[in-house]
Order: sequence, then C-alpha cells, then structure tokens
Amino acid sequence: MTNNATMTGKTVLVTGATNGIGKEAARGLARLGARVVIVGRNAQKCAETVAELQRSTGNQAIEALTADLSAMAEVRRLADEVKARCPRLDVLINNAGAYFDKRLTSADGYEMTFALNHLSYFYLTTLLLDLIKASAPARIINVSSDAHRFARLNLVNPHKPPAYSGFRIYGETKLANVVFTYELARRLEGTGVTVNAMHPGFVRTGFGKNNSGLVSKFFSLMQRFALTPEQGADTIIYLASAPEVQGVSGKYFVKRKAVPTSPVSYDQKTWTALWTLSERLVAEKQPV
Ligand SMILES: NC(=O)c1ccc[n+]([C@@H]2O[C@H](COP(=O)([O-])OP(=O)(O)OC[C@H]3O[C@@H](n4cnc5c(N)ncnc54)[C@H](OP(=O)(O)O)[C@@H]3O)[C@@H](O)[C@H]2O)c1
Repeated sequence: MTNNATMTGKTVLVTGATNGIGKEAARGLARLGARVVIVGRNAQKCAETVAELQRSTGNQAIEALTADLSAMAEVRRLADEVKARCPRLDVLINNAGAYFDKRLTSADGYEMTFALNHLSYFYLTTLLLDLIKASAPARIINVSSDAHRFARLNLVNPHKPPAYSGFRIYGETKLANVVFTYELARRLEGTGVTVNAMHPGFVRTGFGKNNSGLVSKFFSLMQRFALTPEQGADTIIYLASAPEVQGVSGKYFVKRKAVPTSPVSYDQKTWTALWTLSERLVAEKQPV
C-alpha cells in the first residue's frame, strides 16, 4: 500500500527496533524523512541496525539508545536520555515485546512478560508524556496483538498466577496494551496527542525464538507462512504518518482499519484499575 505522508521535521522513537516489526517501522519512517531514534537492548546490535537503516534509507538522522526495557530503572534512564537529546517527540512507538515459554522474573521482581510487554509501555509513555504533549499534534502507537482476544486481565496478582502459561500471560499483556491505550486516549482528550493500538498480523520475525530449542523451532515452523516484517510494520507506519488518521484516537487497527476489540477490553473499571496498578508498580521502583 502506498503512503504519501512526509515525516520531515518529525522525531520518532521506536522501541524494539533492532529486529522484526520495529526495525521495519523505523526503516519506513526514516524513508519518509523522520529523525528516528531506535531503542534496543544490545549496543552492538543497535549500532549495526543504525548503520544498516542509514544505508538502506539514505537518511543519516537515525540514532540509537540502549535499554533493557523490562527493568524500570532502565526505562527511567532511557526517558531521561530521550529528553536530553530530543527537543521534541512527535511519535512514540511502543513495540518491544516477547513471549516467554517459562516463567522468568524481571530485575524488579516482576513477571517478565508483564514487565516488558506492559509496564515498559506504561512507564516510558508516562515519563515522556510532557515532551510528547509539548510536540502536539503528536501520536503514540502501542503494538498489541489479536492474542488479546482470548485473554482476561489478572489485576489482583499479575506476578504470581496459580500456574504459569506463556500463552495466557502473553495474551493478558496484549490485552493490557489495548486497555492502556483506551485509558490513555481518555486522559489525552483535548491535548492534540492521539494514542492507538494495533495488531501487526502474524509476522515472520525473531518472535518466540528467545525460548528453548523446541519452542523456538515451533515458532520458526509456524512463521514460514507468516507476513514479512515489512507487511507487519505497514499499519504502524500508517498510524505514525498518514494525514487521514490525524486526530483519530483510542482505536485498535488491523490492516489500516479500526476494528473492535474483545468485549472485556471496553470495561472502564478495568481501564482505571490497570492504570492504578501500573502506577503503583512503577512507583515502587523509583529511587527514594
Ligand atoms: N511476530 C508476530 O507475529 C506478532 C504478532 C502480534 C504482535 N506482535 C508484537 O509485535 C512486537 C514486535 O515483535 P516482533 O515480532 O518484531 O519480535 P522480534 O523480532 O523478536 O523483535 C522484538 C524487538 O524487541 C526487542 N526486545 C526484546 N526484549 C527486550 C528488552 N528486554 N529490552 C529492550 N528491547 C527488547 C528485541 O531486541 P533484540 O533484537 O535484542 O532481540 C527486538 O528488537 C511485540 O510487541 C509483539 O508482541 C508480533
């Protein structure tokens, strides 16, 4: 699909842009002329990605910041670095995410999927919100998944569900991305900042390959028939740049179209409860 938008003069931050969908979103937006700041967890991979993106797009205004986004102290440091480097932030793309077959614990003692896939979106966004508002009209895009459709949120004890299921917690975090988007859209009304969630489709990336041999092989096998990362990034690039979605907020997009999400995602009490819980969890990790 074509996109006649221009991003010249705009600054975009993309998390998880050293691979897969995030990398292609960064490439597409760099091609449209944006200054692109990519976030990855590995300095060497970040440097290689910047060089490759600069080469393939001809845009030299691409740079990298490193952070392990599952650790709240690193998210805070990242936000400080973004504020120091970028006088404006027109588009924030929360994309870094993963599936964990076995229960892992983050540096803060939180369940890893919840920390990376939801808390990092919440914390990075809220820390950067003043900068984003000052850059309005501005856009936030949360990469979610249709995996949210099978999920319910466990807000009572998100770190110790009775038995661990990687698919269940992954779906919960992707539902959290949708719920967070809806509550943030409500809070951002009238600010000129929009926020939307999206599903990239089933995409051939590094997704799932952080797990042990068999699980990783399962993902590789399944992904043979999946979309390319470029196709997966298309709706992100559209939401970040297209003039026709200027002002559109609080929606969930698949293939450039706003579509309804699961019935539970519309429960406004859940929106507030998730916000309050997330605020508490990130506050507990702030230095005194
Ligand atoms: N692939 C699909 O079919 C699919 C479907 C629906 C939704 N999604 C969503 O799409 C998003 C992107 O996934 P993908 O498929 O592109 O996967 P991917 O190829 O594995 O890319 C994930 C990106 O996130 C980064 N990342 C992982 N853990 C991190 C951490 N702790 N701190 C900082 N960065 C970290 C990775 O860094 P490294 O390069 O160092 O690994 C990589 O850049 C995720 O939110 C996922 O839930 C994917």
